[in-house]
Amino acid sequence: MTDLVAFAHGLPKAELHLHLEGTLEPELKFELAARNGIELTEKTVDEVRATYNFHDLTSFLQVYYPAMGVLQTADDFRDLAYAYLKKAASQGTRHAEMFFDPQAHTSRGVPFANVIGGYRRAIVEARAEFGIEGELILCILRDFSAEFAMATLMEALPYKDWIIGLGLDSDERGNPPSKFAAVFARAKAEGFLLTMHCDIDQEGSIENIRQVIEDIQVDRIDHGTNIVENDDLVEAAKARGLGFTTCPISNSFVTEQMKAEEIVSLLRRGLKISVNSDDPAYFGGYIADNYVALAEQAELDIADLAQIARNSFEASWLTPGRRDAYLAEIDAYVAAFTAA
Ligand code: ADE
Ligand code: ZN
Repeated sequence: MTDLVAFAHGLPKAELHLHLEGTLEPELKFELAARNGIELTEKTVDEVRATYNFHDLTSFLQVYYPAMGVLQTADDFRDLAYAYLKKAASQGTRHAEMFFDPQAHTSRGVPFANVIGGYRRAIVEARAEFGIEGELILCILRDFSAEFAMATLMEALPYKDWIIGLGLDSDERGNPPSKFAAVFARAKAEGFLLTMHCDIDQEGSIENIRQVIEDIQVDRIDHGTNIVENDDLVEAAKARGLGFTTCPISNSFVTEQMKAEEIVSLLRRGLKISVNSDDPAYFGGYIADNYVALAEQAELDIADLAQIARNSFEASWLTPGRRDAYLAEIDAYVAAFTAA
């Protein structure tokens, strides 16, 4: 292991862009299929991985949603999140704000309670066992209707204490942020923090980024790297201290590149850029792997990685006291690593 790789793994980090359903590794998929009496088309881990030939967001989502069929009981959701949190803790994650897609489950007859009950149990257990903190962000699937989104938000209200924010994911094409303005306004009134995906190189990327900043007034943006094309929006995001959750390895699957140049340009311009893993079981890299991949591509040093980790806590939804404690942990880690 090089110094940089060791540094990236041990560095205290917050994960802010992680889809729990995107952490379904093929091995667990087989285990859950067997448990639930489901026959899978692919018979080996290699056969499953052979289906991962994505070239854009749509082709990824076509593999991603069908795989979720093995998730049925609260235990299944618990096992998925527990395995992720264990892995994340092993890569230096101290705090994870994790997306989940309830509509991908309720739309096929799985009760909302199974989903959130299982995920919540994993969070409580993982905190006790690995010291990692977890929060849940309910993600609305933007290719379903605004009515289904609102109904899902209503279904979530009894579990409000377990959900920190509302997000928006899935296929952006033809599904701009404005489609969900009323749902996000209601969520804000209920006390949820807001974030939305602005995926890479979408039709209307800039207009969608403008909508999330000016109209929806989100608290954070997921991806959003195309903002680099518009100086006015960069200045607006900077003035608001908006965090951007970039995902370099994911970018290299859904577009032709990691977008390292764009990410680093925004970092140097002072935006709160964090680095995250998105759907690590599908894209083959957890959080530290993403730090290393970006560092290697853009020739970043350990001071840059420490800045990105600081950004991850500053853009997180932790209380100021907890956030500052993690920032102090980073300072101590950097001092000890540099002294060694
Ligand atoms: N769902 C899971 N990963 C996603 C991504 N990167 N963009 C949009 N929707 C997603
Ligand atoms: Zn995502």
